[in-house]
Order: sequence, then structure tokens, then C-alpha cells
Amino acid sequence: MNRTLLVSNRLPIRIEEDGSTVRTTGGLASALAGAGIDAQWVGWPGIPAEEVTDEAKLRASLAEVDVAPVILDEETIDGYYHGYANSTVWPILHYMLERARFDPAWYPFYRRANEAFAETVLAEVENGDSVWIHDYHLFLLPELLRQSDKQLRIAFFLHTPFPSSEIFRALPERHAILRGLLGCDLIGFHTYNYLRHFRSAILRVLGVESEVESIRREQRDVSLGVYPIGHDAKGFGEALQSASIHETLEKHQQELAGKQLFLSVERLDYTKGIPQKLEAIRLFLSEHPEERSRVVFVIIAVPSRGDVDEYRQLTEDVQREVGAINGAYGGVGHAPVQFLHRSFPQPELAALYALADACLVTPLVDGMNLVAKEFIDCKHEGEGARPGVLVLSEFAGAAQELSHALLVNPYDVVETARALKEAFVMSADEKWERTRAMRARLQRTDSAAWATTFLGDLKRQPLISEDANDSPQFPRLTDRFTSIIASRKPTALFLDYDGTLREFVAKPEDAVPDPDLCPLLTRLSSVPYLHIALVSGRPLDFLEAHFPEKHITLVAEHGYRWRRADADGWDLVHGHIDTDWKDEVMPLLEQSVDLTPGSHLEEKQSSIVWHYRRADPEFGLWRAHGLLSELTDVTASLPVAVHHGKKIVEVASQLVNKGQAVKALLNDWAPAIALAAGDDQTDETMFALDLPEHVEYVTVKVGTDLATHADRRTDINGLRRFLVGLDERLTGGKD
Ligand code: UDP
Ligand code: G6P
Repeated sequence: MNRTLLVSNRLPIRIEEDGSTVRTTGGLASALAGAGIDAQWVGWPGIPAEEVTDEAKLRASLAEVDVAPVILDEETIDGYYHGYANSTVWPILHYMLERARFDPAWYPFYRRANEAFAETVLAEVENGDSVWIHDYHLFLLPELLRQSDKQLRIAFFLHTPFPSSEIFRALPERHAILRGLLGCDLIGFHTYNYLRHFRSAILRVLGVESEVESIRREQRDVSLGVYPIGHDAKGFGEALQSASIHETLEKHQQELAGKQLFLSVERLDYTKGIPQKLEAIRLFLSEHPEERSRVVFVIIAVPSRGDVDEYRQLTEDVQREVGAINGAYGGVGHAPVQFLHRSFPQPELAALYALADACLVTPLVDGMNLVAKEFIDCKHEGEGARPGVLVLSEFAGAAQELSHALLVNPYDVVETARALKEAFVMSADEKWERTRAMRARLQRTDSAAWATTFLGDLKRQPLISEDANDSPQFPRLTDRFTSIIASRKPTALFLDYDGTLREFVAKPEDAVPDPDLCPLLTRLSSVPYLHIALVSGRPLDFLEAHFPEKHITLVAEHGYRWRRADADGWDLVHGHIDTDWKDEVMPLLEQSVDLTPGSHLEEKQSSIVWHYRRADPEFGLWRAHGLLSELTDVTASLPVAVHHGKKIVEVASQLVNKGQAVKALLNDWAPAIALAAGDDQTDETMFALDLPEHVEYVTVKVGTDLATHADRRTDINGLRRFLVGLDERLTGGKD
């Protein structure tokens, strides 16, 4: 039976030295704890290795609750958790570049911690299991797991915002982080905005294009989805039914002594906007002296990440300001602001939510914010129930679902103070009406529903076997070539170069063959009855410099010239070709260069190519579409073909294309079997040849573009494995 593993830095519980368990705080922990997922957990137990006196005992206690711990030493925790994750990545994810600290010593610990998580996960999983990774501490883990030989479904959920790529790209390790995530089968975000920013980051940072719901990779697709996390509806529901709830409510009601309770619940984090909230409270109290003794602001601020300087400083600032407000607006026996700097258990929170006349959730930015949802859910209508209104920051992910709250811009303290007044005077009817409009939906979309939907989508992802690139026909194809050659009949391979035998790189001149490629093709070209042609868009001098072997036929410039096997020089494939059309299209192409920074022209004998690989990817694509439409008009009566390839627009003489050159070679060689492989639009002319039935012609698309005339697909590695396999069968793979 396949299992599911949940992997997160923070576990919903912490084991104390005496073996007792303590609930941890934070949206990730509380939602996952309430989701009721039948899964094995992998996570950090919350204390450094140095403080673990009896590791066997700790492991045994955690094993009882199905947790496999990742035990990290103090130095690693410092660099990984306090350092990289919470001092560099967290502020960047929350648009707070000015709070981000960049210390090059931290990232190696982050990597090391991710490797430690990978080791623990890999020790637990079997082929076919699903691994669901949570949050920004573990960005590298998907790729680390993908590199193992286990066949896993790997998913990631980000519990924070994903910021604009303009902010994200400040992260020095942005490439590694994004590549780490692309190891997933499924990546989930709270909102569509975060997904949109992520797509923009992979485009701008890695140059990887995507669709709204997926990123096509050569080996497998990465699905993207929006899954707004829900709260622990069951847990809060049970807390409100518990035997002790009436006592707790009674006690708090007496303490309130008729005052309105304006409640805040959050970790003491600079993203939560506590100073701005205090400023709004100060303004409200100063403008409404008559209300000062009729309201109490209870601020539950749970200590968080106390070893990070920014958090220590914030705690001091908040405490000072609370004191100042109470000093200015309090009275004998009454402090308008109560600052509770500790964590509260769930039943206690449920009681406070049920009692509160307003809940102030005013983060400057927040991935979702579960407190907002919990508050609404704890407002059960009924006898003696107290209505309440939610004051909610429009910058919390939850604002998208909770539009009946009083939405505020937390930076605008005047607006927030006004919302406090509105909440203070709001009628019970209006409060209930607003609550009703939001509550039913929240119960349907709680954390259990969220997890079920996410895991359902994950289970639908295909399991990718390690050899998925070897399309099943390839081994048979090797047999076919070998047996035809053994029966002394000719065979042929037509191979494109860039993107087929070699990955693309930013500068085409850097895409030289790897050291194994030339010896491989040279050995194959010496096999009797096997013809090899490299059919490329490259100019002849590049091909000649890198493939000096004379047994290989080189076709340059998309079929304009060739150097036939064993010939000394280059010939035109079609004799003289008229290129007068160049004068007419050149001004348009030059204009595109001027209008598109980072683009350039390449002039070949029979074509002109506009390259935009180094331009801004979206702008380049937009300009390419503009150019294509202008070229349609200008070239209507010219003997040219225009095509849009990978980051290029090419105008080429009509007679010149790879297909025509391949057709001529097929006529000459008359092979019993031939294979043509290519990745680009220009290779489609090879795939779409109209050939007599007796020619067994195998066409292979290298890459994931949807539209192709080829009858098989693979990636660069898959094609290379085929060539290496053929070489081993035919030459023994040795020079
Ligand atoms: N929480 C808690 N005890 C407290 C304060 C908060 O258990 O004393 C829980 C709260 O119920 C909520 C979570 O911590 O589920 C906070 O999640 P939220 O999404 O609001 O913010 P995060 O801490 O994840 O940024
Ligand atoms: C946020 C993060 C979680 C984290 C929680 C508490 O919700 O998204 O990953 O667990 O804060 O922070 P802590 O550093 O205590 O785990």
C-alpha cells in the first residue's frame, strides 16, 4: 500500500525532555494538525542535537505519533533556520527586502539541512509513495528527492506569499531555489497571485516558460495549483463543545465587566503589522475619549523566532508602545491594551474568539492568516452568543475569501482607526449578517478539505520511472537498425544539433559539443551501411570546426549548403538561390533590434535571423509577435518562408529548408530505415516529409512543445542514450 509522507520543518507537536508533547504555534502546524491526514511525518523536533540527552527515547516517543525526526546540531539550526530561512528568505517572501540579512555563511547550512531531510525521507519511503513538502525551509528538498532512484510523487505547498520576481530575484541563491522546486510533480499556493509571481520568477530567473497550470519539463510536467488553506474546523468545533467552555466563557465575561473585547492573535512577527495596529489603537483612543473605559484591546502575541535580531527588536518596540498607550489613555484599574506575550491552547483561543466583539487581523502581508478564519468559525449563533466583526487587512491572503470583513489597508492608520470605531458601534444584526455570509464557506473549505483536494490532485500525477525518457520503442529501434545493418542494407540518421544533441545556452557560440559527442558520432559514422547527417541551422564554419570527421555529412544553414560525406568542400544544396528579398526585410528586422534591448541579428547566406534569447522574455515574445505580423505583410509576394523558432524569428529563402536537404539525401542513400530527430520548428520540415511507403522513416521530437509532426518524443538524454546504445551494439562503444 502506497503511503503519504508529510515533511515540514515545524511539527505540530514538540516533545519535551520528559516525553510530554506540547502543541506548536503557526498556521502550518495548526492546519496540518487539524487536517486529519493519514501520513507519516518527517520534521525537526524543535531542539538542537546538543540538547537531546537520550536520542533513542526521543525517537521512540516520536515514532509513537508516526514522526521521524530530523535531528540537527546547533550550528546547522543557526545557519539554516535562524539564518537563511528566517533572516533571508522569510523577509524576501514578504516583500521586506530592507529586513533581509544576507550572510554567505548561511546557505551551506540551509543546503545541509535540506540534505538531512532528504536522507530521513529516503530512509522512510518506498517506490510509489507520495511526499508532501511544506514551506520555505525546504525549497531544495524536491530536487534532492528527485535525484534519488526512488519513484515518488513529490509535492510542495508554500504557506507564505510568493513575491513579485522583482523582489525574489534579490535572493543570491534564486537559481538553486527555483531549480529545487522544479523537482516537484505539483506545487501549490494559497492564491492565484502567488502562483502568477512564481511563474514570472521561473521565466525571468531560469528562462523557463510555463502555462497557468503547468510547467512542461523534458522528463515530466510540474503542475501548479491554487489551494487556499483552511483552518482546523473540527478542532475549534470540538473546543466549543467541550465541558469546560462555559466556565471559561463565564470567567472571561466577568473579567470584561461589560467592556467590548477587541482581540488580536498572532505570532510576534514584523509581518503582522503590530506597531501599525497600535498606532491605529492610539488614534482611536485619542479621538474617542468617551470609549476609553468601554473597550479593552487584548493582544495575544506569541513569542516567535526569538534568536533572530529583528524579532527581539520588535518585541521591545511593541512592549514600549503598549506601555506608552496605557500610560496615556488608561485609568485607575483599567489598561486599554493588554499585551499577552505567550501562547494559548486551542480551547482557550476558541473561548476568546467566541467572546470577542471584534478581531483585529491587520498584517502588512500574510500568506493566508488562519486566525481570521478561526474567529469567524467560532461565532456560533445561539442563545447568549456574542456577535463579532472581523477587521481584516486587505494584504492577507484570507481577504480574498472574507470579503464581508471590514477590510483595511494596515499602512493607513487613519482608515484602520475609523474601522475600529465602525466595529465599536456596529449593530449585532449587521455583525451576524456579515458572519453568516462567510462562515458556511469556511466550514466547507477547512484544513481537512484543503488536504484532501491537494492530495487528490497529487495522486493524479503520473509516477515517472527513472527510464521514462527511453520511450519504450527505443530499444526495439536499436535492434531494428542493428539487424538491417547486419543484412547489409543502408540506414540513416538525420540529427539536428542545438537542442537535440546539445542543450541551449544564452550565447550560441558557447554551445560547443560535449567531449563525448564527437567520438560517439565518429565511431557511428565508421559503421558500414550507416549514413549520418548533422542537419543544423548553424553556419558551415561552426559545423566544420566541431565535426571535422569526413564520414559525417554536414548540412548547414537549415539546408542551404552541405558538405557531403567524404567530400572535400561545401556545395549549395539547390544551386543558386535568389536573396534579393533581404533588402526588403532587413529594415524591419533592424528596427526590431533597436526596439528590443538584448536582441540581435544573425545574417546567413540564405536567411536572416532575429534572436531575442537575451531580451526580457515577455517583452521579447511580444515584440516577436509584432514582428511576425509585420513580416506577413512585407513578405507576402517574396520567395521566403518566415518562422518563429525558439527565441528567434527567421526569414529564409523559400526553397531552403531542412526537409528538402533530407529528402535529397534519402533519395541518394535509399536507406531501409532512417531516423530524424530535432527539437525546433525548423525540424518539422524533416518530420513532415512525404515519402514512399517502403521507407521506414522514424521521426523523433526532442522536447515538450505540443505541436509536432514527429511520431515519437524524447529529451536530449533519451536521444543520447539511444545513440550510445546503438554505438555499443555496432562498434562496442570504443575507439
Ligand atoms: N495559535 C495558537 N495559539 C496562540 C496563538 C495562535 O495555537 O496562542 C494558532 C492559531 O490558532 C492559528 C495559528 O497559530 O491557527 C496562526 O496561524 P496564522 O495563519 O494566523 O499565522 P502564522 O503564524 O502562520 O503566520
Ligand atoms: C509561518 C510559517 C510556518 C511556520 C510558522 C511558525 O506560518 O509559514 O512554516 O511554522 O510561521 O514559525 P516557526 O518559525 O515557529 O516554525
